[in-house]
Amino acid sequence: MTIVECDPATNAAALIAVSAVFRSIGRVLICLDRDFHVVHSSSLLQRLTGDEVASAVVGHPVSQLLGEELFGAGGTLRQHLERGEMREGWRAAMPTGDGGTRTVSLTAAPFVPDESGICDPRVKFIIVLRPAEEDPLAGTAGPTVFFGMVARSASMARIFSLVQNLQASDATILLTGDSGTGKEVLARAVHANSTRRRGRFVAVNCAALPGELLEAELFGHVRGAFTGAVRDRVGRFELASGGTLFLDEVGDVPLHLQAKLLRVLQERTFERVGESVSRSTDARIIAATNIDLRRAIAEGRFREDLFYRLRVVPIDIPPLRARREDIEPLAHSLLARVAARHGRELRYSPEAVRAMLRYPWPGNVREMENAIEYAVAVVKGQTIHTDDLPIEIVEATEPQIARASVRGGDEIRSIRTALESHHWNREETALALGISRTTLWRKMRELGLT
Ligand SMILES: Nc1ncnc2c1ncn2[C@@H]1O[C@H](COP(=O)(O)OP(=O)(O)OP(=O)(O)O)[C@@H](O)[C@H]1O
Ligand SMILES: [Mg+2]
Repeated sequence: MTIVECDPATNAAALIAVSAVFRSIGRVLICLDRDFHVVHSSSLLQRLTGDEVASAVVGHPVSQLLGEELFGAGGTLRQHLERGEMREGWRAAMPTGDGGTRTVSLTAAPFVPDESGICDPRVKFIIVLRPAEEDPLAGTAGPTVFFGMVARSASMARIFSLVQNLQASDATILLTGDSGTGKEVLARAVHANSTRRRGRFVAVNCAALPGELLEAELFGHVRGAFTGAVRDRVGRFELASGGTLFLDEVGDVPLHLQAKLLRVLQERTFERVGESVSRSTDARIIAATNIDLRRAIAEGRFREDLFYRLRVVPIDIPPLRARREDIEPLAHSLLARVAARHGRELRYSPEAVRAMLRYPWPGNVREMENAIEYAVAVVKGQTIHTDDLPIEIVEATEPQIARASVRGGDEIRSIRTALESHHWNREETALALGISRTTLWRKMRELGLT
């Protein structure tokens, strides 16, 4: 290791030059020592915070400028830096001299000095700031947490802001999206964010019960209405009065019940099974499905009038592969959640994060949750490595295959070529392609190369 002798004059000159570079591109550079105290800050900071704040920064903990939550002892960003990790696109509110705050977007990284001797040896971390309003990803860059849901993508940010705008509304919502995308958590978030939050959130899985039982579940029944109905029972529509009724898998409601459902939605009245008294409910309805209701309508399995009654406010949650920016914040927050449940504190190796970023997540957030449960169960130390992830994620990260699977034709060609040049020896071919033998064998079968 080279010990760098630092010449204070050279150091000061270098810093003035660097500061000018950052000012020219509208950024502020802040250098921190190992205790997260500010060693230097570049001149543009004054313009963002005013002289008073800017002049009092050097020599003080950066948490005074950018917040305890990020940089205090145990602060999230501080932890990443201490582990040697860089983080981009975070947001912080900085005090301005007039008692207000200014939101900035920031990138923070451990500082890696070269051997020129120009660098101040005290500097261990650097932060680059810019005003958030100049950030092209404003509002979506850092992860957002919305009633327990984590996301960073613009598409989820739009959904969260729609839900916020619906706060005072009782409008019926139809949630669509692939399995595991978060329809139920979003339904709960809508309820928790609404004026009905003190009422109940009642969930019914319409796919779990056969027709008559589902009817009794939804509307209630009187004693003797059918075999097994030994006493009167309140239905879910009544239970959810004053609150929210979540009709999950609504696409599976049988046709004859769809007519009754339509009536409750239109008139807010219903009868318990075996009774003729009309009752009313004011439950707010949120329905969800992962089947294509338009197709179900075309095939005569779903009533069109009910479809339009349900989709007063349609919300479609995109699959995870269509919002890849969400993968990393989800992976971290789900790990924190799962690990805490097991009383552990775990982290990912950078390769494990990369593997997760490359994987297409056909089962969406639920699949990620399960993958993390698996990793937490098998991991030996404190760090989850690629090997600790389920096999399908590991396989998908093998670069040639990941690239090739995008282009089927090329994939056949590249695998065939590799096989031929290794005289169809699978072990050698797999080695050459950088994939496992089982993956190669599976690909060969899929592509008809056996
Ligand atoms: N944005 C998110 N942030 C944090 N956790 C999430 C998010 N989205 C989904 N999850 C978690 O993923 C799991 C699956 O979500 P959920 O049950 O809401 O999916 P779903 O769309 O209802 O799936 P299905 O159609 O299979 O019923 C849950 O444990 C949920 O907490
Ligand atoms: Mg669900």
